Amino acid sequence: MKKEHDIGREKKLPLVNHVPGRITIIAAVTPSLVIGKDGSLPWHITGDLQWFSRNTRGHIVVMGRKTCQELNYVASHYKPLKNRVNIILSKFTPWWNIVWSQKVEDLYVCNHLSGVRAIANSTQPMKSKEIFIIGGAEIYRTFLAANIVNRMLLTKINKEYEGDIKFPMGYTNPKLWDVEKIYESERFNIEEWLKK
Ligand SMILES: NC(=O)c1ccc[n+]([C@@H]2O[C@H](COP(=O)([O-])OP(=O)(O)OC[C@H]3O[C@@H](n4cnc5c(N)ncnc54)[C@H](OP(=O)(O)O)[C@@H]3O)[C@@H](O)[C@H]2O)c1
Repeated sequence: MKKEHDIGREKKLPLVNHVPGRITIIAAVTPSLVIGKDGSLPWHITGDLQWFSRNTRGHIVVMGRKTCQELNYVASHYKPLKNRVNIILSKFTPWWNIVWSQKVEDLYVCNHLSGVRAIANSTQPMKSKEIFIIGGAEIYRTFLAANIVNRMLLTKINKEYEGDIKFPMGYTNPKLWDVEKIYESERFNIEEWLKK
């Protein structure tokens, strides 16, 4: 039997087009829209991680403080996702100060949605980048409710997993999106949702 992590490598994962300044949500969901359990992902699907990395590298990633703490946050130090500008949303000032004090290149913290655009526009190389909203649920919900998301890249996992956090699909009206399946495999499909 094939190992789980080999399955995602069966076919070449697509590289989507990128538009400077466009806001794209990228998420992996189960059939019942589960995205997380106990503060982390309930699955390990290498193919989906490769897809995420392939398409976000060189761009801007925006995440909530809780997702940030799940990713590469060790002993009060956050290692940014490589080759990407990392923006963390948090209103918790003490934690903010800890991250700032690290003085890590390509790592920004802001306490407001509007700060994301301001940071993205603040330096020349970043202006040409797409803005990927990488989760979690609270951050997806905030951006969808603000009606500023232009695209969603959704990995639809073909198996159900237990979880306590769901993707806020209720904040999207399917009639307002053109949906195209851009990848299909045994374990997951990928859909591109473009705002009409
Ligand atoms: N399947 C996927 O694709 C995927 C992707 C990412 C994450 N996840 C999962 O999602 C779960 C985490 O999601 P979550 O909803 O609990 O947390 P989250 O969205 O990662 O982070 C929430 C935090 O973000 C900050 N925040 C939210 N809105 C803000 C705003 N408007 N301005 C400033 N800061 C704001 C707050 O931080 P403070 O409390 O510091 O103020 C809030 O507590 C984990 O289980 C993770 O594994 C799944």
